[in-house]
Amino acid sequence: MLSNAEFVRDRIRTVPDWPKPGVMFRDITPVLQEPRSFRVLVDIFVHRYMNQGLDLIAGIDARGFIVGSVLAYELNLGFVPVRKRGKLPYTTVAEEYQLEYGSAAVEMHTDAVQAGQKVLVIDDLIATGGTMVAAIKLLQRLGATVTEAASIIDLVYLKGSDAVRATGTPVYSVCTYE
Ligand code: PRP
Ligand code: ADE
Repeated sequence: MLSNAEFVRDRIRTVPDWPKPGVMFRDITPVLQEPRSFRVLVDIFVHRYMNQGLDLIAGIDARGFIVGSVLAYELNLGFVPVRKRGKLPYTTVAEEYQLEYGSAAVEMHTDAVQAGQKVLVIDDLIATGGTMVAAIKLLQRLGATVTEAASIIDLVYLKGSDAVRATGTPVYSVCTYE
């Protein structure tokens, strides 16, 4: 009998050499496509985060929006997007992070979070952790208490989740790849 996490993991598709040679791309679209695995996945997060006194769910652009918004709906919480640079229309704060070549930035609206709010930040996957760490810094600059960083997948060998934990934020992932 598979655990719920194993049931989800079984439906994650690995696409070798995409988007470039050497990368094993972990594709969550089959999990979302099949109603049972989508529900099992969302319910894992719902059970973990219900009755935890959270105020808000912050989802990271773009795949973090999918599970983050459904989770917020199920927990009767608001959802705020952490977006890639240049996508948000109102006044923003930005946090840069390093890519293999060059840099990227995530942004949030300045009024997305009230000081002192307890926020869960969620994405589909932690690789180097750069995106998640930048999102946490941004949320903290806005005065949020980031209670946990959640992902569907943790690519443990890249040590990104260690980098996230080094910020003082606990990490929870449904599936790990060693
Ligand atoms: C992927 C993934 C995470 C990020 C993880 O997003 O969805 O957000 O990379 O990588 P890191 O831990 O090394 O920062 P991507 O930037 O490919 O954007 P997308 O969601 O728009 O596809
Ligand atoms: N983002 C960064 N690395 C990834 C991978 N191996 N699979 C899916 N998304 C990713």
